[in-house]
Amino acid sequence: MKRIAILFSGRGSNLEYIAKAMHQKELVIVVAVTNNPEAEGILVAKRYGIVVEVVDAKKYASREDFDKEVVRILKTYKPELTVLAGFMRILTPLFTSEIRAINLHPSLLPRHKGLHAIEKSYADTYAEGGATVHWVNSELDGGEIICQKKIAKQGLSLERYRSKIKSTEKEVLAEGIAIALCPNKARV
Ligand code: GAR
Repeated sequence: MKRIAILFSGRGSNLEYIAKAMHQKELVIVVAVTNNPEAEGILVAKRYGIVVEVVDAKKYASREDFDKEVVRILKTYKPELTVLAGFMRILTPLFTSEIRAINLHPSLLPRHKGLHAIEKSYADTYAEGGATVHWVNSELDGGEIICQKKIAKQGLSLERYRSKIKSTEKEVLAEGIAIALCPNKARV
């Protein structure tokens, strides 16, 4: 089975979706790495028997030192693909040049890179928002797009829009992982 690693920072609802839908079926999550020792996702991963590594960002003097440690850990687990699912840290070229990774982002990139993408896309003048999975490169939320799904905003409150984004991003993530692991076999 294909081996993936997941990086997360908070609740871990995307981690949970992948654990439930794909782990031990079409792939194995060999490790879940978080920068946040208090992330709720730690318990989520443990519930699915997934090994968790905590790299507490506060204990590292620089972004580079943090990234070096994450890269070292990832290399010991040898994933084919690393998936950033709710990982809320900017990565340096030390990471992006070494690790084959994809990222989930809750907007139709290239619109609304960075933080508060859901609120920004809700407030913009376009009729649709959505979620994107893209390759990670040295530019924040800037790598090549793998897949996207759109959501029509009309008639939705911000809360309803947010919850649609949250459910749609799980589908986008599963599809993005499948494509990244097996580029010739995109799911329908
Ligand atoms: C998700 O909405 C994800 O798209 C977003 O963080 C949330 C994490 O939720 N990621 C970004 O904004 C990355 N730039 P989760 O911890 O429940 O998976």
